[in-house]
Amino acid sequence: MPASRAHLRTFTPASDPYREIAVKRLTPAIGAEIGGVDLAAPIPDAVFAEIERAFAENLVIFFRDQTLTPEAHLAFGRKFGELHVHPAAPSEAGHPELMVIATDENSPRANGEGWHSDVSCDAEPPLGSMLYIRTCPEVGGDTLFANMYAAYDLLSEGMKRRLEGLQAVHDGEHVYRGLYANLGVTDRPVYPRSVHPVVRTHPVTRRKALFVNSGFTTAIVGLSPDESDALLRYLFGHLAHPLFQCRFRWTPGTLAFWDNRCAQHQAIWDYWPERRYGNRATIKGDAPF
Ligand code: SIN
Repeated sequence: MPASRAHLRTFTPASDPYREIAVKRLTPAIGAEIGGVDLAAPIPDAVFAEIERAFAENLVIFFRDQTLTPEAHLAFGRKFGELHVHPAAPSEAGHPELMVIATDENSPRANGEGWHSDVSCDAEPPLGSMLYIRTCPEVGGDTLFANMYAAYDLLSEGMKRRLEGLQAVHDGEHVYRGLYANLGVTDRPVYPRSVHPVVRTHPVTRRKALFVNSGFTTAIVGLSPDESDALLRYLFGHLAHPLFQCRFRWTPGTLAFWDNRCAQHQAIWDYWPERRYGNRATIKGDAPF
């Protein structure tokens, strides 16, 4: 991987001071804990503007020690856009936009165990996701996050040229069919399948980000299966380099808000038979370009 110090230029430098909120970065690549905000109370405009800035600069932001009702969680999500309803996962009773993330001693699996960007099989994949963890083990159940701007920036110029204009298939079928059967979910006849650019431009920051993930991306359009598999295997390995990552250790009452357009995440299920429970509100996005 990096042959020189040049790669360090990809990381966001410490930015102008924040006046309304406290921002403590986790790594130079990604992630920051935000202090001084009660998400259940009305959020003044100046505070909200700094939350938006911290989100753009850090790709995933974490708010600890929050006490959120489902309504307050959804209301915070709606400040960023219309809410998305998951095509397969179970939701809280009366709140279709509030996905249940639950693992206990009877679970055959946990959510999000491989690197992915949420529901990238949608034609308009989600802008971001807000996971509020209510219960978690004291040790274990961390989530890894990775910066896809950095993953793109650190490709060689030759590889960037190779990827220019390429499109990839993102398929929900192999991911979702039967996935939630143990929770009583009946499958839909069809799950979403879409084609997106391999490198997308973030609509707010205008930076380029790698947009393939090992969860949903099955093929690169126009390449032979061998070539497509080889290229995807390379990209999946590259984007999982620790240099691009942070690892977040949850405490009950923490809300994480990540940007699916420029970050991927992976949940670690290392705490069986303990229980981890939370809700995810997901914000609708637009077609990648
Ligand atoms: C997810 O992919 O939304 C689950 C993440 C987690 O449980 O940490």
